[in-house]
Amino acid sequence: MAITFSLAFLVLLKLLSPQRYVKTACKISLRDDLPVKEPLYLKRFNGSLEFVLPLEDKTIPQKDRGVLELAKNEELILACPGKNNELMSPPYDVVESHCVDGKRLDVEVGGVGNKTLRIEQLECANSVRAVLRPNFSQTCAKTGTEMEIGFEVETEYLPLINVCHDVDAADTIYVEHDIVSTIRGAKMLQNRPSFQEGPYPLYDGVNTRKVYTQEYQRQLFDDLLGKGEGKHVIRGLYYLAKGHLAPHADFLYGTWKWATYFYVNAAPQWQIINGGNWKGLEDYLKRLAAEVPYIFLLQNLHIC
Ligand SMILES: *[C@@H]1O[C@H](CO)[C@@H](O)[C@H](O)[C@H]1NC(C)=O
Ligand SMILES: *[C@@H]1O[C@H](CO)[C@@H](O)[C@H](O)[C@H]1NC(C)=O
Ligand SMILES: *[C@@H]1O[C@H](CO)[C@@H](O)[C@H](O)[C@H]1NC(C)=O
Repeated sequence: MAITFSLAFLVLLKLLSPQRYVKTACKISLRDDLPVKEPLYLKRFNGSLEFVLPLEDKTIPQKDRGVLELAKNEELILACPGKNNELMSPPYDVVESHCVDGKRLDVEVGGVGNKTLRIEQLECANSVRAVLRPNFSQTCAKTGTEMEIGFEVETEYLPLINVCHDVDAADTIYVEHDIVSTIRGAKMLQNRPSFQEGPYPLYDGVNTRKVYTQEYQRQLFDDLLGKGEGKHVIRGLYYLAKGHLAPHADFLYGTWKWATYFYVNAAPQWQIINGGNWKGLEDYLKRLAAEVPYIFLLQNLHIC
């Protein structure tokens, strides 16, 4: 019996070019200045909320990219969406702040007036989690259901990753996301969340947590190949890992990286490939994102 694990992904690279401000008063480095439990950093553009992105500037060395620049008094909206979440101080889900200088922002605290705080003091009570929104009336790739991973802020939704997931087969057909050209300046994370299934019963009859354990896989290969054979197949780096489709490292903010931890954004992948050639391919795409204007790429890989 042959088992085929299908691993497919679709990456959309886009050069996003926010305009350069006339005069920068605040410079906030994603890598060095953000708190651990960072809020979403947003602005209001044409009536809707958007993410604030670092400036594109080819003259900045790649390793120094990833800096948010704001003009004096420019607005920066901080949001800590989700159940039981809010900014620690002032204690609201969504807070408007204005750039003072350097890494300092004025925050209006109800009834008290403005308070000047440093960006790292503006931290959420809990880590911001993205939500998975399946649209069961929207099909993709014949058997897939379209889903989005993104953030709900007040009445608005900010999408980050598009997923085409076959619910019956418990298999993701492709995912789609942007890589910004400032990706080399992305925030580094020490902590990673565990994977979640999402709000709907997407994996009927599949114990997602269990199938990715080496113990389960050894047993599976015992059943397929004969008792005692599993330990020869599943050993060292030879096990089926939760291979990210939209990779953790393709995302700028910590909140965005955490949004990749959904089972629909993972496929079983031999760890030796996941941490080897596949990682090499991901690194190559990130380098490409920093250099070229626009790339559309579709990959479909079968691992037997
Ligand atoms: C602003 O929003 C309006 C209405 O939604 C739309 O028609 C217009 O094209 C938008 N402008 C820009 C610059 O996006
Ligand atoms: C707080 O600062 C903002 C922007 O600098 C300003 O518009 C607002 O009037 C200030 N609020 C108070 C109460 O001083
Ligand atoms: C779901 O898909 C349908 C069909 O394309 C569309 O009309 C509807 O607006 C979508 N719903 C959401 C919440 O995006």
